[in-house]
Amino acid sequence: KKRYTIAVLPGDGIGNEVIPVAVDALRSAGSLEGLELSFEELPIGGVALDLVGVPLPEETLTRAKQSDAVFLGAVGWPKWDDNPKPLKPITGLFQLRAALEVFSNFRPITVFPQLLDSTYLRKDTAQGVDLLIIRELTGGIYNAHPRGFTTNEQGDEVGFCTESYSATEVDHIARVAFETAKQRRGKLCSVDKATVLEGSMLWRKRVTAMALEYPEVEVTHLLIDTAAMDLVRHPRQFDTILTGVMFGDILSDLAAMIPGSVGLLPSAALGDSGPGIFEPVHGSAPKHFGKDTVNPIAAVLSAAMLFRYGLKQENAAKRIENAVSDVLDRGFRTRDIHTPGTTLVGCRRMGEEILRSLDTRVSAS
Ligand code: IPM
Ligand code: MN
Repeated sequence: KKRYTIAVLPGDGIGNEVIPVAVDALRSAGSLEGLELSFEELPIGGVALDLVGVPLPEETLTRAKQSDAVFLGAVGWPKWDDNPKPLKPITGLFQLRAALEVFSNFRPITVFPQLLDSTYLRKDTAQGVDLLIIRELTGGIYNAHPRGFTTNEQGDEVGFCTESYSATEVDHIARVAFETAKQRRGKLCSVDKATVLEGSMLWRKRVTAMALEYPEVEVTHLLIDTAAMDLVRHPRQFDTILTGVMFGDILSDLAAMIPGSVGLLPSAALGDSGPGIFEPVHGSAPKHFGKDTVNPIAAVLSAAMLFRYGLKQENAAKRIENAVSDVLDRGFRTRDIHTPGTTLVGCRRMGEEILRSLDTRVSAS
């Protein structure tokens, strides 16, 4: 297949700065590979609340479902912080994840050799890191039942949210993780809190059982606290990390400090079939919006993941990744990764340089 429809959901804040840059990269790499891409821009989050009064309009969901891939910016803005839950911007994101059944969230963390100066760790610690967090996305504590607010016997107000994982849910995501680890360096580290949480106890039992089917994959288990420590102390030991929705959320922001900026991290949310959601790991960043200073690389690398996992167009993905690497070779840096001796540029200029690299410098090989 050569024709694809991509639903583009820039959302709020800096989503509107980084997504246009990344769409240009999709368009350019796509045409170099002879693909016919059509883009359909749709509202989600705060923008949708302003337009139609709900964070995920029906029209957006319908068209997202019909698309070949969903390309998303970020949702959330202080203006809507006090909205009731059904009318919060992030509710739109949860509804979209649930409706598309994207249960597996891929978050690769790699250290570009050109960016070693940007790490918050020691350079010799960060050097060569190439790991993938596979985060369960549609179950666990985020999607808990029961949850809510109540009053206990003492008359005290209580907020509660019960974590659970079923064997089916664990097996579903664990299967993805084993298959992926097999294609990578064959190492899988499952992260849980099996000393305390029942959901984690079952998680560990199921992963241990599935490991018997994959003698070629070396499996380890770490508790979340130890995993956090080891990610900082010795991140190169990790290849594929499998974890639940909340631990994965925390670990991915922690791991962003290995390359040195959350503005570098892309992600893909995938289901068994249907369109995936491709989005930068960072949020809408109200503080930075409107200044043309943010880093579009996370979004641009998410565009590469869209080609790789969403459209199965590996060459187009490589083109984009090579272009990013080329731009870094040529010394261009946004503020978050700027170090002495490099050229400070804004979001748009970074985008232009990525396009220049795509057009003139690099191929898919
Ligand atoms: C992320 C974000 C979201 C999450 C928020 C916005 C709900 O932090 O994708 O990492 O926790 O899933
Ligand atoms: Mn997060």
